Amino acid sequence: MAKEKLVFYCKECGFESAKWQGQCPGCKAWNTFVEEKIKVGVQKSSVKRDAVTPTSILDVVTEDEKRIKTNISELDRVLGGGIVPGSLVLVGGDPGIGKSTILLQMCRNLTAAGEAVLYVSGEESLAQIKMRAKRLGGFEHDMLLLCDNDMDNVSSAISKGNARVVIIDSIQTMIVDEVGTAPGTVTQVREVTARLMQLAKQNNIAIFIVGHVTKEGNVAGPRTLEHMVDSVLYFEGDGSNGFRLLRGVKNRFGSTNEIGVFCMTDKGLTEVKNPSEFMLSGRPKGVPGSVIVSSIEGSRTILMELQALVCQTNFNMPRRTSVGVDYNRVNLILAVLEKRAGMNFWNQDIYVSIAGGIRINDPAVDLGIACAVVSSFKNKPLGDNLMIIGEVGLTGEIRGVSNVMQRVKEAAKMGYDRCIIPASNYDKSMEQLGISIEPVSFLSDALVLI
Ligand code: TYD
Ligand code: MG
Repeated sequence: MAKEKLVFYCKECGFESAKWQGQCPGCKAWNTFVEEKIKVGVQKSSVKRDAVTPTSILDVVTEDEKRIKTNISELDRVLGGGIVPGSLVLVGGDPGIGKSTILLQMCRNLTAAGEAVLYVSGEESLAQIKMRAKRLGGFEHDMLLLCDNDMDNVSSAISKGNARVVIIDSIQTMIVDEVGTAPGTVTQVREVTARLMQLAKQNNIAIFIVGHVTKEGNVAGPRTLEHMVDSVLYFEGDGSNGFRLLRGVKNRFGSTNEIGVFCMTDKGLTEVKNPSEFMLSGRPKGVPGSVIVSSIEGSRTILMELQALVCQTNFNMPRRTSVGVDYNRVNLILAVLEKRAGMNFWNQDIYVSIAGGIRINDPAVDLGIACAVVSSFKNKPLGDNLMIIGEVGLTGEIRGVSNVMQRVKEAAKMGYDRCIIPASNYDKSMEQLGISIEPVSFLSDALVLI
């Protein structure tokens, strides 16, 4: 008889501990430990490994890897040029963000290209999937559906069938009986993933796993699996507007930090070919506190509108709020403005936000934040056709940033006519882009120009 043992797991990162802890030593998250009973004495993972002797690297033959195109070019880009056979891909994101939708659209395209596809759902019924397919439209070729959450049945369906791409929707609903814990617990999720990994490698099929990111409840998040799978894609975006970003955070077969940009419509997710145009549509003209900044996302530059609002406070403590940019970064820039440009913000509430619900970590937006704040403070609009790039240092110097040429080109393409850039990034060839380049070395130089 196998004995049972109590183990505590962090549901964010999967850290294992013999006792409960308030803060996870692994990921530093609070209150994330959950208790699970595991059986000791039984084989921990049923996955058998057969490679026993080491192989010389010279003897390993590689074929030119053939990728399967999904014909959703934003998705192909994030995957690094298409689906690699034999790979395990995790698609994470909040519930309702569009994971099932994009994967069903992918299946539709794959079947149209003659690939055999199996869609396993532990969440929805056959009728629900069919209804979604009807809504998306264009399902003219056959595709196999399986509504089951028992891993034994799913495994045998995968190994007996001839599907080259399999979708598991979602990992949190799948269950391996022998593990003995509820679906969605850390031990279950890990065991299911280990089995899927073995199936993918042995049969050379690509498997996509859907994982919900959940803050509450005893469901293990996809973070616990990140290290087990080949690629990890996360869906981002706020529910209110249709804008969705698919971000590659890990990719064993391509570059990471690539993003795919989509818009949720009544016919599923459509690709956004020109994200800058999408982000800047509806920008108000001639108003104080609005500025164009740029962020490098993977191989692309996206121009965005950054807004600041400065207004007199009615309390002892002025408010500082930031949406889409780092709060501490905003405070740092305000301190530099106070010290180096002689501004007084002690009685001013300040709000800074990126329009469109996107988050950026690019330091190149610093100078944009400073200029937008000054513009709103003085109630003086910045030019409508001006883009600002540069990192602000503590002494008020403007530091160089990456890929300036690419950013300036994008601004020229979008029809802007002025661009303030760090002096250290200045290059004569930029003058030929048909946009006026204004290099600055100090914050005070930039404030003179706006
Ligand atoms: P879904 O793909 O089911 O989310 P997930 O699998 O990540 O939980 O997306 C569901 C949401 O998308 C739901 O709120 C309805 C919306 N939606 C559309 O707006 N248009 C569509 O064509 C489809 C299929 C869904
Ligand atoms: Mg779903």
